[in-house]
Amino acid sequence: MSFKTSSSPGKLMLFGEHAVVYGYPCIVTAVDQRMSVSARVADDKDVHIHAPDIGVREYQKPIAQLRMGEIPKAVAFIEAAVFRFFEKHPQHSGVYLTTASDFSSQFGFGSSSAVTVSCIHALAALFGVALTKKQLFQLCYQAVLDVQGVGSGFDLAAAIWGQTLYYVSPAKVVRPVHFDKAKLIIGYTGIKADTPTIVRMVQEKRSQSPKKIEGLFHNIMHIVEQAEAAINKEQWSVVGSLMNENQSILHELGVSSKELDVLITAAQKAGAYGAKLSGAGGGDCMIALCDDKHIANVEQAIQSAGGVALHANIHAKGVYSQ
Ligand code: PMV
Repeated sequence: MSFKTSSSPGKLMLFGEHAVVYGYPCIVTAVDQRMSVSARVADDKDVHIHAPDIGVREYQKPIAQLRMGEIPKAVAFIEAAVFRFFEKHPQHSGVYLTTASDFSSQFGFGSSSAVTVSCIHALAALFGVALTKKQLFQLCYQAVLDVQGVGSGFDLAAAIWGQTLYYVSPAKVVRPVHFDKAKLIIGYTGIKADTPTIVRMVQEKRSQSPKKIEGLFHNIMHIVEQAEAAINKEQWSVVGSLMNENQSILHELGVSSKELDVLITAAQKAGAYGAKLSGAGGGDCMIALCDDKHIANVEQAIQSAGGVALHANIHAKGVYSQ
């Protein structure tokens, strides 16, 4: 029986987190840690989900009952993706979905956005529905908002378009940035952050001190604009300084953490061009930009400071059929 498989990359935020939720730009790169979804037509009207690497085995539900009743956390994104696809493009049969992941969801590389994109991309291929990247984005964005209520969709854009992008939410502006020659070191703090909680905390601060927080977002926007130009000109020491500046603002915003600060300072002292947290903050990962000469030093410094230095290829390809 025929089936279709789609594979999507994870992501790392380079510049502009939090501000991007409020319409300011950000820069995101796709990470070559991928999530694939295989779809096959079922002979009933149910969705059957088999996602062993996230602990889901033989989950089954009628398409007509999607998003009703108890939904286990592990299948929430897949269920929302299937719901949004079938709502827009109704079909006569159900579907078998199987996922395979080559990244650990604990690092915050965007497994939920990657699984959502792969799922809808594979369903469209299976049922012969032609979707533009923008249409794919819109379906995925609805699905993600169904599950977590907040978010800019930057992670979906990275999974769909791939490579490195200047992005304004919700996919109002998506344009490539030439980040392929840069070397990034990733340091994992060992602490899993809950993005929606931190986004809501910033939302709360913004409603209490709108002037102050908007001022910080404005400064972030200027950094993003300068960073795009500096990256395209391969001015890595400028890009590094801008990362340090972006980090200071995130610190002031209250989203950094002791563990992140320790790893960031260690990387800066070990000769990185610059370093900052990546994503919502509160834990997860920091990133450091390095030249070849300093990579080993910076990795060593991150490890000695209690982090886990990770390797990942950035500027990865967006979603494709396998
Ligand atoms: O924590 P992450 O890697 O999912 O990144 C969140 C980035 C935010 O700007 C804080 C939220 C968003 O949806 O853009």
